[in-house]
Amino acid sequence: MKYLVTGAAGFIGTNFVYHMLEKHPDDLIVGIDNLSYAGNIKNLDEAQKNSNFVFRKADITDTEAMTSLFKEFGFDYVVNFAAQTHVDRSITDPGIFVRTNVLGTQILLDCARKFGIRRFHQIGTDEVYGDLPLEATDKFFVETLPLKASSPYSASKAGADLLALSYHRTFGLSVTVSRCSNNYGPFQFPEKLIPLMLINAMNDRELPVYGNGMNVRDWLYVEDHCEAVDLILHKGRDGEIYNVGGHNEMHNIDIVKIILGELGKPESLIKYVTDRKGHDLRYAIDPTKINGELGWLPKTKFADGIKSTIHWYVDNKAWWEEIVSGEYREYYKKMYENR
Ligand code: NAD
Ligand code: TYD
Repeated sequence: MKYLVTGAAGFIGTNFVYHMLEKHPDDLIVGIDNLSYAGNIKNLDEAQKNSNFVFRKADITDTEAMTSLFKEFGFDYVVNFAAQTHVDRSITDPGIFVRTNVLGTQILLDCARKFGIRRFHQIGTDEVYGDLPLEATDKFFVETLPLKASSPYSASKAGADLLALSYHRTFGLSVTVSRCSNNYGPFQFPEKLIPLMLINAMNDRELPVYGNGMNVRDWLYVEDHCEAVDLILHKGRDGEIYNVGGHNEMHNIDIVKIILGELGKPESLIKYVTDRKGHDLRYAIDPTKINGELGWLPKTKFADGIKSTIHWYVDNKAWWEEIVSGEYREYYKKMYENR
């Protein structure tokens, strides 16, 4: 089998490539990425030693490049991770989110139709449902909820999901969609909560907590997400959406305190800063469907996953030092200075 994995040099894409090479050792994995600020080719150094992995620098919004790639390889499966992914960046520059997430997905879907594939899996996000009230702890995201995206990021992801599903209904393309909660683990770009806090704490810098820190996210270890995608891709029902998450809701402030505790750093590093515009209050997945139909449940307990993630960042200082010494500095200044 031949798989196209887009966004392969990003956080989840990288983890998925390693997952696939291990679980499907006889298959060919073609990873593509346009190596935007979030994509790091060094993530794939180990994968490149495997003859079943091929990397190509390519942009999903480039119709010609995508067409020749599909022609060259004749893919069986497409898994679309490529996206602009940071909510804060979508608030300052929505345009690139629409181009990448909506237009890019449509170009891939057209190629999939034209060349014929077994299945197209669209990586969605639970953020398309909007948010849940903080106090309504008996309410969860289910697949049948209406879409109510709050940010340009989640709105563009909702558009991509709908396009993918429309290609199933209208053209009969085999499509599945997964909507996962917040991931954590190795290789996550340090603009996101956990790696940002970890790196700041290691450097004895302030930890910028938005608002009062009481917003809730539902955390899933990245390998559990990769397993879910692998399962949906091969066993999920055509045209179906599967929520992916494992009832691990936590207040942001509690995550920050766990990180400080594990690194032996003082809570005086915490700084409450101006809240994010339109900040979603609470995300919480109901995984009944994926559990009932495919038997998936997360395997990694948060206490273990966060420890190994913290230790990965401690052990891979060179990986993140290279990032935070580059254009990230400008990003950080723009987002956090005088906040
Ligand atoms: P990421 O930002 O680390 O990775 C995205 C990758 O896509 C990057 O390597 C980037 O260079 C690449 N990319 C961007 N534009 C591209 C283009 N035009 N052509 C080719 N490649 C392009 O993000 P991530 O956290 O790994 O997210 C991957 C997917 O998972 C996204 O679709 C995201 O919406 C979804 N998702 C993420 C989470 C999470 O918590 N991180 C949760 C649910 C869903
Ligand atoms: P993030 O990692 O950006 O993921 P998302 O917004 O897509 O869920 O943020 C997770 C939570 O952490 C969110 O409620 C915003 C908050 N946050 C901070 O408090 N400070 C920060 O510097 C960042 C990046 C996020």
